[in-house]
Amino acid sequence: MTNKSMEALAAEGAVYFIFGATGDLARRKLFPALYSLYREGKLGERFAVVGLARRPRTHEQFREDVLESIREFCRYKAEEGQAWREFADRFSYQSLDIGNVEGMRALKENTEELESRYEIRGNRLFYLALAPELFGTVSRNLRDGGMLDSEGWHRLVIEKPFGYDYPSAERLNEEIRHVFQENEVFRIDHYLGKEMVQNIEVLRFANAFFEPLWNSNHISNVQITLSETVGVEERGAYYNKSGALRDMVQNHMLQMLTMIAMEPPSRLDPEDIRDEKVKVLRSIRGFGSGEEVRRRVVRAQYTEGISRGEPIKGYREEDSVPSDSQTETFFAARLFVDNFRWAGVPFYVRTGKRLPVKSTEIVVEFKNVPPGVLFATKQELRPNLLVIRVNPMEGIYIKINAKKPGNEMTVQPVAMEFCQSCQIGINTPEAYERLIYDASRGDHTYFTRWDELAVAWKLVDPIAAAWAGSGDGLAFYPAGSWGPEEAERLLAEDGYFWWPVNGQEEDNIIWVSNAGK
Ligand code: BG6
Repeated sequence: MTNKSMEALAAEGAVYFIFGATGDLARRKLFPALYSLYREGKLGERFAVVGLARRPRTHEQFREDVLESIREFCRYKAEEGQAWREFADRFSYQSLDIGNVEGMRALKENTEELESRYEIRGNRLFYLALAPELFGTVSRNLRDGGMLDSEGWHRLVIEKPFGYDYPSAERLNEEIRHVFQENEVFRIDHYLGKEMVQNIEVLRFANAFFEPLWNSNHISNVQITLSETVGVEERGAYYNKSGALRDMVQNHMLQMLTMIAMEPPSRLDPEDIRDEKVKVLRSIRGFGSGEEVRRRVVRAQYTEGISRGEPIKGYREEDSVPSDSQTETFFAARLFVDNFRWAGVPFYVRTGKRLPVKSTEIVVEFKNVPPGVLFATKQELRPNLLVIRVNPMEGIYIKINAKKPGNEMTVQPVAMEFCQSCQIGINTPEAYERLIYDASRGDHTYFTRWDELAVAWKLVDPIAAAWAGSGDGLAFYPAGSWGPEEAERLLAEDGYFWWPVNGQEEDNIIWVSNAGK
């Protein structure tokens, strides 16, 4: 962001409306993010936050909720006394039935009062931390209640899931677009707000030695793993309809893949970047038949098992999950980006609940040196890897081969790591901070454009259709394991294997790291 736009925001200010202000997302992510932005001076002097939900709450009770959420989840410690009051006073609460336009009229009056008190020029950011079925109603009532009549900008920030499949996403989009223009809509995929996902562009386009090798001549395969130890907790009802395909693959996994695979944009302009991402999505080979889905996709569900020493119940025993559920809690696939750069390179993606570790990593595996020449005649050499560690550790490492010190010409793998989270520690901004900040500046770079979303749905819909109504091909894995063996076979068929995440399980490897390994 330029200093100019930062100054402009600080000068004009904005009112932030949090719909769903008594919900989990607001408590865990949004209030802490607003507080961090405030502490860093990024909200400027002119701002106000209005919490909206059905439940009655006084302003003071609401401020207490905000304080508690900051104490529990924010990377900044909540200030005390006068300093806290100055922040808390900017928060107010209004109980609202969002289906009722009268409530919006009352909101309009309150908002105008806040805008005049804090000299804010009519800029309004509406964050809908709500079920998507409500997006259309809220948008319409915002308009009909006069909330979009102010002279400043109006922006709508919405959360996934954007529909259940392409037709429902399209309907949802149409409802929103009756009221808001595409450039006023900010669709959040919080993976795009993660430090290391954004860093992919810098790594690729600000270094001379990756880009020349970044293609099918030199890269043998790419592996994207997003593993979670959690199960579905209290989200069983939602998750059982969605499954890993819709919950993680259609959005987070495909977004990471596009960042790895996209062409360099001609400029660092949000639309140029998003154009390149859409091209990647369009180049991903579709699933023309059920047979192709069976060959290239693995779906599985966890059964009871042991995770980190604790017994874990199976998915079908979770609350709100039917005992004969066919929903996948694990997904793995072999994808291809059919363009000149990536022809023939498999992109393996896998994600699952109740796996052994929480980790998101992208492994770029390079082609090996020719077999049977020079050092490769003496021992089997391991391929070079570039590993991008997205979450929870943030950083990168590269794995190379080097001489083992001594008289023998023995080669050993060495991993050289830059652990970013070790370096910058807890002060790396959270994804939601960046995204709220970007939305308030009108920067769309790390938000999903409608055409991206549409292509992503069209890609996953045939997979869901091939599975629909049948448990055929649903595999099972014990909680706490790395998923079913079918997922191993997917790579083994091509002569590869999943690289262990965290690099920890590999033996005979020397680590050079600022993480103190
Ligand atoms: C959400 C999914 O989008 O991402 C959750 O709905 C998942 O099921 C979460 O747990 C993972 O996000 P993170 O940032 O914790 O990796």
